[in-house]
Amino acid sequence: MRRYWQPVLMSRELPEPDCPPVRVRILGEELVAFRSTSGRVGLVDEWCAHRRTSLWLGRNEEDGLRCVFHGWKYDVTGQCVDMPNELPEFDFKEKVRIKAYPTQEMGSVIWAYLGPKDKQPPPPSFEWTRQPETHLHVSKGVQECNWLQALEGGLDSIHTSFLHRRFGGSRPGLGGLRAQATAAKLEVHTTPYGYTYASIRPLGDGQGNYVRTYHYVMPNHQIRAIQEFTDDGSMTKFKIAGHMWVPIDDENCMTWNWYYSLDNPLDDSERDESFWGNGPTFIDEQNGFRAYLNRRNDWGIDREVQKNETFTGIEGVNQQDRAVQEAMGPIVDRSKEMLSQTDKAIVAARRLLLDATKTVEDGGSPLGADDSYYDIRAIERVLPPDTQWLEALKDQMYPTGAPF
Ligand SMILES: [Fe+2]
Repeated sequence: MRRYWQPVLMSRELPEPDCPPVRVRILGEELVAFRSTSGRVGLVDEWCAHRRTSLWLGRNEEDGLRCVFHGWKYDVTGQCVDMPNELPEFDFKEKVRIKAYPTQEMGSVIWAYLGPKDKQPPPPSFEWTRQPETHLHVSKGVQECNWLQALEGGLDSIHTSFLHRRFGGSRPGLGGLRAQATAAKLEVHTTPYGYTYASIRPLGDGQGNYVRTYHYVMPNHQIRAIQEFTDDGSMTKFKIAGHMWVPIDDENCMTWNWYYSLDNPLDDSERDESFWGNGPTFIDEQNGFRAYLNRRNDWGIDREVQKNETFTGIEGVNQQDRAVQEAMGPIVDRSKEMLSQTDKAIVAARRLLLDATKTVEDGGSPLGADDSYYDIRAIERVLPPDTQWLEALKDQMYPTGAPF
């Protein structure tokens, strides 16, 4: 996890130079982020080196964050640059430095690299992070479980035919081809960044296969297709979406949501995330981006709605994801699972993560800590039976050429 750039904040959480600092919890670390007078983002240890109070209380002024206890001040590199409580002969600020991590901003997101200095990978230049603001939407919310079981949910295409189904009516949910064909064959193809895979749902009656492709970009990033079609099969919207699941600690993660349009700018209705169970209706931005619906209120399940309107009775597509993933417990006991064919993508991700852990332990570079994912797209289409999906879709999935 430390060998890759990780998203830590949305840029709008630090809206201007010298704005209030923000707490960041990531990989079990307690950090504080601030945007300095010159606009650079610092990500430093939350605790002042002196008496260990919180720098979140600090004054963000003149290119540094100043502790409110005794006035010690740190720049974005963590260097102490002022020690105003000591006379010049006792001043030792040049000897004081707190932990600091490099940051950069791309795609309305502040990213940080928490790994060894000499192993820093190239910038997180996904196609989505290169989009103009008019075509991109990014949000996030806390999920109360280990990041891996959230990722595994996101790499599991077939659950969308069940968990997210609606039986008609207006509640958020998925129908269409996914409701028509609820069983799939999965095919996983390993790539230099992780893998791509397709869920292949036979539609019956010679209608071909509904093929949805995903990308798994190591170690915690999913990219999926959300294209929209008319009944005659022509595409009306070319959108691509994805999630990242970033560990806060072992039992909590931050779920990032992004989508972008490759044709028209996103309009207000497309930015309204109520359908997805994200955004201000579902996520309390004033309370650390925690979800209003959670284990303590049974995710708001409504048994009448479950009987008549949606498969779950839980409102909002990603709220349904959070519910089932949190309901597994903070860290699910995988020794008691019984996996089936449609769990192939989950199995493949676990193998790659175990391999990557070993690679890093042996001093190597893990998959995806490079630029191999820069120009990948997730595509969904109905293809004639017996079509080899990767051959058929390769040019659309890799518009500048496949990295394999
Ligand atoms: Fe889902």
